[in-house]
Amino acid sequence: MFFEQNRVLYNESVGGSCFKMGISCNLRFQDALPGQFIMIGIKDCCDPLLRRPFSIHRVVRDIDGIELLYKVVGRSTQKFSLLQKGESVSLMGPIGSGFSIIEEAKRIFMVAGGIGVAPMVFLADFLIAHGADPKNCGLFVGGRAKDDILCVKEFESADIPVFSTTEDGSYGSYGLITSLLTDEIAKDKPDIIYACGPHPMLKSLSRIAAEAKIRCQVSIESVMACGVGACLGCAVCGCEGDEHPFLHVCKDGPVFEADLLKL
Ligand SMILES: Cc1cc2nc3c(=O)[nH]c(=O)nc-3n(C[C@H](O)[C@H](O)[C@H](O)COP(=O)(O)OP(=O)(O)OC[C@H]3O[C@@H](n4cnc5c(N)ncnc54)[C@H](O)[C@@H]3O)c2cc1C
Ligand code: FES
Repeated sequence: MFFEQNRVLYNESVGGSCFKMGISCNLRFQDALPGQFIMIGIKDCCDPLLRRPFSIHRVVRDIDGIELLYKVVGRSTQKFSLLQKGESVSLMGPIGSGFSIIEEAKRIFMVAGGIGVAPMVFLADFLIAHGADPKNCGLFVGGRAKDDILCVKEFESADIPVFSTTEDGSYGSYGLITSLLTDEIAKDKPDIIYACGPHPMLKSLSRIAAEAKIRCQVSIESVMACGVGACLGCAVCGCEGDEHPFLHVCKDGPVFEADLLKL
């Protein structure tokens, strides 16, 4: 893990309240794994004082940097959205466990809810670079409305079939992404499911995967203060019995086997 002061290379709106930020990084960040995250803050900014966690959206070798995809939800992200090219940010990372790439897994489903698509673009690039057949993969992306559906073009241009739903029917099929996923599982079961998104989606997905006996890895969120296992603020309930009932998202995750969590 590295601490760095880095320059913003670009920071642009991608619609709704979401932005993409490119940040120059030490070359060592290019060894990051999909699913790992960074903690980022604005240099010399005391309000908010703490860095915030964000998944690595892409490692961009042409610019020697990484890209984040983020949604403005509060004070830090509001300030991030105003950053201009050349301004400084303070970065810590790459942190945590990434998604495990299973060589024998040929049919691969990725499931994203809203901004949970952020780590999936890096994951898809990584899978393809490691020999996955894009046509045998699928991205399932759901959101409340059209503005929540991001990155479809990136997956389509990589030849990955995309299935999308919105709760108001303004994009893709009407309804929840887990319904569409259940239909596709019934037609041709995947070897593994990777997911990131809101808690209710992950809970439902975890049950679907367990019933269909499909291995499932989920990237989960929790509010984080330190990002290094010191404050214990990111604890979630695990299934490993009474001796170690808690897992820490920053240190043990953020990616977990779904059946290890009490979702
Ligand atoms: C491992 C990890 C990876 C993440 N990756 C991304 C990403 O790629 N893109 C992205 O947009 N966001 C991501 N997040 C969420 C992001 O960290 C929060 O949106 C951010 O910290 C909010 O900061 P803020 O100061 O703008 O909001 P705050 O003012 O701190 O909070 C605003 C609102 O958001 C809620 N909130 C804050 N942090 C979280 C959180 N971690 N989970 C759920 N709700 C939260 C608060 O309860 C509050 O209601 C990730 C979180 C984790 C733990
Ligand atoms: S954020 Fe401090 S222990 Fe995880």
